[in-house]
Amino acid sequence: MTTCIESACSRNNAERRGLLFLLPPLLRLLLLTGLLPQTTAEEVDFEARIRPLLLQHCGNCHGPDAQEGGLRLDVRSTFFAGGNTGAVVTPQNPAESELIRRVTSDDEDLRMPPEGPRVSAEQIQLLLQWIRSGAIWPETEYDRNAVHDTRLDHWSFQPVQRPEVPHIPGQPQATPIDAFILQKLQLAGLKMSPRADRPTLLRRATLILNGLLPTPAERTAFLQNEADSAWNEVIDQLLLRQGYGERWGQHWLDVMRYADTHGFEVNTPRETAWPYRDYVIRAFNEDLPYDEFLRDQIVGDVRGEDAATGFLVCAPVLLPGQIGKDEESIRLARQDALNEMITGTGNAVLGLTIGCARCHDHKFDPLSQRDYYNFQAFFSGVLYGERPLNSSESRSRSEQAKALEPRITELQRAIDRHQLTARPGSVFVIDETDPDLTEVLLPANGPGNNPQGTEPGFLDFPGNAE
Ligand code: HEC
Ligand code: HEC
Repeated sequence: MTTCIESACSRNNAERRGLLFLLPPLLRLLLLTGLLPQTTAEEVDFEARIRPLLLQHCGNCHGPDAQEGGLRLDVRSTFFAGGNTGAVVTPQNPAESELIRRVTSDDEDLRMPPEGPRVSAEQIQLLLQWIRSGAIWPETEYDRNAVHDTRLDHWSFQPVQRPEVPHIPGQPQATPIDAFILQKLQLAGLKMSPRADRPTLLRRATLILNGLLPTPAERTAFLQNEADSAWNEVIDQLLLRQGYGERWGQHWLDVMRYADTHGFEVNTPRETAWPYRDYVIRAFNEDLPYDEFLRDQIVGDVRGEDAATGFLVCAPVLLPGQIGKDEESIRLARQDALNEMITGTGNAVLGLTIGCARCHDHKFDPLSQRDYYNFQAFFSGVLYGERPLNSSESRSRSEQAKALEPRITELQRAIDRHQLTARPGSVFVIDETDPDLTEVLLPANGPGNNPQGTEPGFLDFPGNAE
């Protein structure tokens, strides 16, 4: 087969270009599917033979300056990403490669390049061979430099760097952070405030670390402790308390918009939200490493931390009764619920608002609408709902509760026997201006004795909005 094509190469250009297409269809198919014996199985030198070919024949329309059909062919990442209709090459499978279909097509509307000299039969053979042998494209500087996305230059995407600590002589500095503060203060012509007195220090530390004021006993103990280590001791104690997780977990819960109610309009209680809250408090108090903390919250159901997945369903959501019955409303509500998971996770974990890409690519940061829906796919199996917690404590508690049920039924019957029965069918009309319509429940006990006057509570008080 190859011989055919090679012999054709010696003919003039017009014939050569047409040859592959003159072959009987079946033979052409066999050639494309690679079923025919191949004379050469070795890899094609991509840099020497394929890249120049793509640049020369396709570069004007699928290169640095233009990407017709959303396709750029001279750079590795964009080549394999494909065009508007998807991948253009399936490695090892030329027959399924759109690129081959385009360069070999007889159809004027499909054929590539659409104008100018055609890709020669020899070059097509090269492309076939390259794809068959796995479409190996070793990445070079050219590939890396060509696709520099300027949106990545934004300051917030730069790697974190450790800045040089400013040298500020002659000023007390407890930590390097003080040096940075002093530097800015100097620039603004300001000075450090004097050191707070000990009671103030204790009050601030306790509020910041535990969210409460120190008790009088704690205050006295601290003031009487004159050891140099008194301050460190008090901080250590505050960090060890349950109150530390309660105070600091709150910041995380705020980011995820945790609440004990559903939010939005009716705002009914969420009586089973608290296990997630307690998980967060425990994680802070147990100094759980951040990566573990995140894993628990995203896939806690497979890590024995069921309650942690409350993270995904913290946000306000419409309750079934608030969603219209038509298909569009149901689907919109589902998209809204998923959107809450996506934006919550983006805000908390990536420090990046993702939500605007629900409808269009972001304007400054490199987030596309495609990224948004890729991200959505992670959560597409997550639903708002309730299920028993899969923990030994929860199981033993529900067994205890079950054991109490017969007793509850018994007591309820006893209570029912003592309940007053309502009087069915009677209506009380209270209308003091029409005695005929008024059923007197209690006879009047003499005239009222409100003094005359128009002050609040007086007889002629006209009433107001207060
Ligand atoms: C003169 C401009 C031009 C040249 C040169 C050109 N193309 Fe195209 N190409 C287009 C246009 C315009 C489209 C979009 C319309 C279409 O799909 O036919 C396109 C689309 C394509 C597509 C489909 C992309 C998609 O996903 O929809 C492929 C594959 C393709 N070209 C391959 C090639 C190859 C391979 C070469 C070089 C051998 C080449 N083209 C050279 C203009 C060109
Ligand atoms: C519910 C869908 C939706 C969401 C979510 C959304 N947008 Fe838009 N946005 C649109 C639509 C539609 C347009 C085009 C309006 C028009 O026709 O001009 C638009 C246009 C814009 C434009 C003007 C674009 C231009 O080139 O003139 C900016 C800027 C913008 N949005 C920013 C944002 C930001 C920031 C967010 C997130 C806080 C956001 N959008 C979220 C639908 C949305």
